[in-house]
Amino acid sequence: MQTLFINIKELLQTRDNPPAFVSGKEMSELPSISEAYLLIDGDKIVDYGPMVELPQLSEVRTIDLTGQMVLPSWCDSHTHIVFAGNRESEFVDRIKGLSYQEIAEKGGGILNSAKKLQATSEDELYNQSKVRLEEVIKLGTGAVEIKTGYGLTKDAELKMLRVIKRLKENYDLPIKATFLGAHAVPAEYKDNKQGYLDMLIEEVLPVIAEEQLAEYIDIFCEQGYFDLADTELILKAGTKYGLTPKIHVNQFNAIGGVGMGVKYKALSVDHLEVITDQDLQDLKGQKTMPVALPTCSYFLGIPYTPARQMIDNGLPLALATDYNPGSTPSGNMNFVVSTACIKMKMTPEEAINAATINGAYAMGLEKEVGTITKGKLANLIITKPIPSYGMLPYAFGSNLIDQVYLKGKGL
Ligand code: NIG
Ligand code: FE
Repeated sequence: MQTLFINIKELLQTRDNPPAFVSGKEMSELPSISEAYLLIDGDKIVDYGPMVELPQLSEVRTIDLTGQMVLPSWCDSHTHIVFAGNRESEFVDRIKGLSYQEIAEKGGGILNSAKKLQATSEDELYNQSKVRLEEVIKLGTGAVEIKTGYGLTKDAELKMLRVIKRLKENYDLPIKATFLGAHAVPAEYKDNKQGYLDMLIEEVLPVIAEEQLAEYIDIFCEQGYFDLADTELILKAGTKYGLTPKIHVNQFNAIGGVGMGVKYKALSVDHLEVITDQDLQDLKGQKTMPVALPTCSYFLGIPYTPARQMIDNGLPLALATDYNPGSTPSGNMNFVVSTACIKMKMTPEEAINAATINGAYAMGLEKEVGTITKGKLANLIITKPIPSYGMLPYAFGSNLIDQVYLKGKGL
């Protein structure tokens, strides 16, 4: 049965022949159709256009969306949704003056989450994670990437990957899995970082490849975590096993990881709260998508990724949540889009492009989601009645979503 949406006030991000992503000035163009219709059949978009060109259709379920807008679902290309418990006590420590790095040095941070996750069964981890996934779906996310990195042992990393696999099987949105074993050096390897990396490469990567548990490989390239040589080692090893790099880089310090990511054809380089001229040059004209995580900056009170400088230099940019228990305990892409406009001076058009078409590219999903295009998945956001799409970032904190669709099904 086909579903026909009629009288859509504005249908956003309509592209007949979408590019893989948009960069620089192109980011300020958000193609749309006013007073539009949209036809979906099964799980796909099959037609759209202005109401005046609506074809004669029989036996369709018709839904009148007078006053409401439709856009492709958010594409959240960077999350750590699979985790155990929370870290609200560290949040209070930070309120009282400790820094994120000081908390990590005291054994808190990622190691704290790893301890909790190691002690949590796979079923319990799945149950906790699915609650978060269902929450972000309701908030308009229609494609998501999920990382490991809170296991930090062979068994616990594989447990995380198996949970992601179960989420993939049970939910109607594309999910990509990223192996982030090199997220922090676990306490047992405190004085033997190389031993930990060797274990990841020799014992975990072969299982991941054999069981096809991940598409991407990631590493936290940062002072006090993993250096440039570690990054090169992990990216090379991941590539050998068929995993594409996507790295955490330049969150606190620029140590050359952006160039390293580009060298190993990373699909994305994420965080970029600090960025050098060399990094900008390294990214220019490449296929590596820079990804900003503004709600991480918001939560930690660290600098925002200099989006204006990047876009004005002709670069593309994607936006993602970074949903995790330490630096961003929120998976709300609407708030990400708002924060990008408010704090990073992105225009609504740039932010919506960054959170849809560019986010899809940063997960290798540009053929399936991210634009309103015939043949793409009908993963959609239907807004409440709004006067213009500028309301979406403007009315931060308000939920302007009336309904979401995944694979053509209204939830
Ligand atoms: O992307 N920066 C590294 N990893 C996560 C946060 C990890 C944590 O604090 O649990 C991030 O922000
Ligand atoms: Fe992250």
